[in-house]
Amino acid sequence: MSAEILGGKRVADELRHRLSKQAAKFLRCYGRAPRLDVVLVGDDPASKLYVGMKGKACAKVGLDSVQHNLKAGVSRAAVLDLVKKLNQDKRVDGILVQLPLPGKHSEEEVIQSIDPGKDADGLHYLNTGRLWSGSEGTMPCTPAGIMEILDYYKCELKGKRAVIIGRSNIVGKPMAAMLLRRHATVTFCHTRTVDLKKEARSADLLIVAAGQPAMVGKGWVKRGAVVVDVGSHKVNDKVIGDVDFPSVVKQAKAITPVPGGVGPMTITMLLANTVKLAFARAKAK
Ligand code: GUN
Repeated sequence: MSAEILGGKRVADELRHRLSKQAAKFLRCYGRAPRLDVVLVGDDPASKLYVGMKGKACAKVGLDSVQHNLKAGVSRAAVLDLVKKLNQDKRVDGILVQLPLPGKHSEEEVIQSIDPGKDADGLHYLNTGRLWSGSEGTMPCTPAGIMEILDYYKCELKGKRAVIIGRSNIVGKPMAAMLLRRHATVTFCHTRTVDLKKEARSADLLIVAAGQPAMVGKGWVKRGAVVVDVGSHKVNDKVIGDVDFPSVVKQAKAITPVPGGVGPMTITMLLANTVKLAFARAKAK
């Protein structure tokens, strides 16, 4: 048996096509494109690469994007001032501060200073609260993208045992809230979990956001499970995930590949969030 491959590229392409139509409609209605402002503090090469990819993706679907570069040693006040300026700027629909922030900067303070109505990452407490309360808000991009993939390939969630490895604010925690909303039975696992392998093996749906290359092998996966791999690591010039794909693909019913699985969806959901925020702001006027 070999698993169904849950490719994210198709899902992303179809969604981006719909988003470009919505962006064009916004332009017709309001005389400007939806706009995302991205703040990059410091010069971490991976962050620079991601921010560049976000700008290019915006242009491709017809969104405006502006990148703000601050030096790593910039003061706390300067970062907060920039966010305040973007909060007040009527032309800005979405704001994203690239994480991690270098050195002394408090990610929490900066993220919470973003206007929740412009929070393109869905990381503001108001949006987190809305997510956990089951009400409408902006949702974090990676788990929202995973939900799009699971729905696209019609993976049943109701009553399924979902196990999430990883408890970050960006992936693990919002993933749990989204799966709970869809009536899965959700278990969190993390670095202190006793017998992680046994917990993983109990999953009908295993979400792996552990940050460890090829950590999840065949013995971790129940036969017939659906496996979602959030990891992305460059090892010997090859990009691999947190799941040992060659062995798990024989055990699972379905699996997201790396590259080409969750990755293409994350930026797509950022575009979707920006378009949604732009319409919400325009309609509220
Ligand atoms: N760094 C890595 N992933 C993300 C993300 O989804 N949002 C932000 N702001 N920074 C990140």
